Amino acid sequence: MARFIDELKRTHNNNALRAADIGNEVVLFGWVDKRRDHGSLIFVDLRDREGITQVVFDPDASGDAHKLAEALRTEWVIGIRGTVRSRGEQFSKKQNAMVSAANPNLPTGEIEVVALEITVFNKAETPPFEITDSTDTREEVRLQYRYLDLRRKPLQQALRQRHKLNQATRNYLSDAGCMEIETPFLVKYTPGGARNFLVPARTNPGKFYALAESPQLFKQLFMVAGYDKYFQIVRCFRDEDLRVDRQPEFTQIDIELSFINQDDLFKLVEGLVFRIWKEVLDIDLHTLYPSGSFPRLKFEDSMRMYGNDKPDLRFDMPHVDLTELVIAHDGGGIPFFAPIAQKFKDGTYRRDLPAEIVKAMVVPAAHNLSRADGDKLEKYAKSMGAGGLARAKVAADGSWTQSPLSKSVTDEFRLAINDIVGAKEGDIILFQFGKAQLVHTVMANLRLFEAKRAGVIPETGHGDSFKFCWVIDPPLFEYDDERKGWAAAHHAFTRPHDEHVDLIEEDPGLVNCYRYDLVLNGFEIGGGSIRLHDPEVQARVFGALGIGPDEAREKFGFLLDALKFGAPPHGGIALGMDRVAMLIAGTESIRDVIAFPKTQRGTDMMSDAPTSVAPEQLAELRVRPILES
Ligand code: AMO
Repeated sequence: MARFIDELKRTHNNNALRAADIGNEVVLFGWVDKRRDHGSLIFVDLRDREGITQVVFDPDASGDAHKLAEALRTEWVIGIRGTVRSRGEQFSKKQNAMVSAANPNLPTGEIEVVALEITVFNKAETPPFEITDSTDTREEVRLQYRYLDLRRKPLQQALRQRHKLNQATRNYLSDAGCMEIETPFLVKYTPGGARNFLVPARTNPGKFYALAESPQLFKQLFMVAGYDKYFQIVRCFRDEDLRVDRQPEFTQIDIELSFINQDDLFKLVEGLVFRIWKEVLDIDLHTLYPSGSFPRLKFEDSMRMYGNDKPDLRFDMPHVDLTELVIAHDGGGIPFFAPIAQKFKDGTYRRDLPAEIVKAMVVPAAHNLSRADGDKLEKYAKSMGAGGLARAKVAADGSWTQSPLSKSVTDEFRLAINDIVGAKEGDIILFQFGKAQLVHTVMANLRLFEAKRAGVIPETGHGDSFKFCWVIDPPLFEYDDERKGWAAAHHAFTRPHDEHVDLIEEDPGLVNCYRYDLVLNGFEIGGGSIRLHDPEVQARVFGALGIGPDEAREKFGFLLDALKFGAPPHGGIALGMDRVAMLIAGTESIRDVIAFPKTQRGTDMMSDAPTSVAPEQLAELRVRPILES
């Protein structure tokens, strides 16, 4: 029987001991974080996932333990039995007096444990990087040795927060009457939406499963089956290009409810978010949102003011759409704008179809945007496909300087622009014109780029730096310029606003729907919709999309069938758990809150996945690789 573990059980973790424990005998296990040899005394910072406790090896307390401690190296795994004592006092040269030896930066800093007995469970090789709180080791190396990286405090904290986030979610939703039910990962491939990972089905040669991109269809079937109020914390798989806030496998908090409207769903989700912030960060969001609910922004307004549907509301700098003004002023003397005005006037462009637009944004004088900074903004705009970035600096009398536009612009148009954008002396107005989508995107990214450059965005993760909003009422259809037809902006099962149903045939572009996104600090942290459960309206939506009955059957088969058998009105949402965790942790990469993430290229640096497999395995699956030469 081993003395440690079998006989001597761990009494405390390494973050537990306080002054009240002084005099007690304890048993601690952990890793050697640091070892300091002061000759007669050897100090070891003993670390586990909870924290650090200082252990002191004193030959007067135990000669054997002291002797063994001489060999200790960082990351060795040890166990000790010892007595808790006060850190006492030490002589400070600076103060020329005895001062407390307590370490105020450590929760266990008032005490230390004098070792009476020690065991070495395991030695360790020198790690490829130091296990410290802040590190400049390349991420690739840290990902390769993720189990070592996970020993670092920031990751421990992030995963602990994620644990709390999970628990708070489960408790809240269960208390709210939601049932947690699992859905399959191996599902039928359906075209559209995110690209699926495919899994060859060995038992059905030549056929494939898809890995579920979300439990969407299944949770709707739960509603049809009468399992009103469902939730699941569920892994989803999407074969997409990766970004800082995207992983090929990620976790959703998936919710679906019956007999509810949009307001009911928002209330449940707001309650959940408030609970999460309280339990994970101890932040009461009521101080920021006293009504208990988040502001709502119409999709149209979000596009107009911020150029996308996930605005970062921690700072101002809204866009102003000048298109109407440009039309009213026949281009206002600006050669680039005149043809746009003309095309709207002669009917070439319609306001309900994608057209060219003109947008402006004011960079306040306080940002001190220099010419060189302006050139950088222009370079950035060009990298996104913009032709350039027209600028104008506003003088005290409202005239424009440093601008190619200043020569030709009419006085009335210039003053009208100054007025509508609210520009004051020293401000710089940025202009973008062209195809609507490109203008929106370029201006949205410029807004963020300039705010970062000027340092006006409060850091995430602190007090009132959390700016939530719902983006609501988007269009149901979007015009596909290539196909010259209407496509579902999100998916074909989103319920249109009742008062817009009659526009489905007449003017699809004007039909808004009950789809909503929850946005936090410029990240979409959730999205969902009230579903279309009425077969008649469904058929009309398919009609507008040019989807005939056969195609509908092929694409959505079993859902369409199920909706015929008494589907209740229902709706739901999925929150991106990893993104929520990322914003809570105040990091800028989703990888920092996932235990074993993939790289930007979708690879696992540690295991080397994905790998090639033996030809026999492929043969068994009836799969033949086509390798590019
Ligand atoms: P949606 O596709 O908007 O909705 O996804 C919901 C939320 O999941 C997060 N998310 C991701 N997070 C990390 N990596 C990714 N690749 C990734 N993709 C999405 C986002 C997003 O808001 N079935 C619908 C939900 C519904 O209608 O109920 C759905 O999946 O935060």
